[in-house]
Amino acid sequence: MPSGLAAKEKGRLMTNLREKYGEWGIVLGATEGVGEAFCKKLAEGGMNLVMVGRREELLREKGEKFHEEYGVDYKVVRADLSCPDEACEAVFSATEGLDMGFMSYVACLHHFGKFQHTSLEDHEKMVNVNVISFLRMFHHFMNIFAAQDRGAVINVSSMTGISSSPWNAEYGAGKAYILKLTEAVACECEKTGVDVEVCTLGTTLTPTAMKNFPKGPAGEQVVKLALTPDEVADEAFEKLGKEFSIITGERNKKSVHDWKANHTEDEYIRYMGSFYADQD
Ligand SMILES: NC(=O)c1ccc[n+]([C@@H]2O[C@H](COP(=O)([O-])OP(=O)(O)OC[C@H]3O[C@@H](n4cnc5c(N)ncnc54)[C@H](OP(=O)(O)O)[C@@H]3O)[C@@H](O)[C@H]2O)c1
Repeated sequence: MPSGLAAKEKGRLMTNLREKYGEWGIVLGATEGVGEAFCKKLAEGGMNLVMVGRREELLREKGEKFHEEYGVDYKVVRADLSCPDEACEAVFSATEGLDMGFMSYVACLHHFGKFQHTSLEDHEKMVNVNVISFLRMFHHFMNIFAAQDRGAVINVSSMTGISSSPWNAEYGAGKAYILKLTEAVACECEKTGVDVEVCTLGTTLTPTAMKNFPKGPAGEQVVKLALTPDEVADEAFEKLGKEFSIITGERNKKSVHDWKANHTEDEYIRYMGSFYADQD
């Protein structure tokens, strides 16, 4: 167990999250990276975890670690969010009867290449993960949280959802959907007991992203400026209940503000496209 100031800080967070929001939190896309970092925050805050992903064994290992370190319970739900009917059935039945107080939609799906070179089947798979399953999960848990007037949501978007994302267009469009839907819902429940936030990420050192970083000097520069999943989680939870929509990291915030203030939309779109233009 931690000692001194760290223990005090952990104790404070522990009272806050569980007492404020409820016993259980669900993270959709919990296996590694940002989802895992969010689970750690919930566990530090004393909340039990519903961990959703496809790699059941790995989720179980991580859940066991949280149980040992923080004394929280955990449930693993193996679900593929590209199949919304089956995924929703698995998640809704696993959480029925639990005192749910938190949800976060973290999972995403990319496919690099020009729009028309990506098969319609792959586009629909991305829409299923990035839009349909997200919508159904968010709607389901918002109904629960609104009825009890208690709960919290942190959904994860991307700077590509602000700029758009040439050569990864479907992904950027899905992230824009998550961003705009969550921002509006956050405002709708401002004066209630439900806190909703959307967290827009720039490059973050997650295992998936590290496989997809652009090659060459542009990629090296991106990696140098990237945040860790823990840094993202710290900022996201610190701002929960205070802001509707955050861009994680000072550099990312400045970059978006600079592009919006000093460049045209087309320049921003071209800039984002420049990272992946060779991926077709
Ligand atoms: N990393 C970055 O640079 C970056 C930049 C901007 C925005 N973001 C956003 O940050 C979030 C996390 O990014 P990431 O790179 O860590 O994403 P990721 O690896 O695709 O997703 C994180 C987790 O989601 C699970 N997952 C993925 N697809 C799933 C599916 N079809 N069904 C169920 N679970 C699934 C994965 O576990 P399993 O493999 O076990 O299913 C993984 O643990 C995403 O919303 C992304 O858009 C990331």
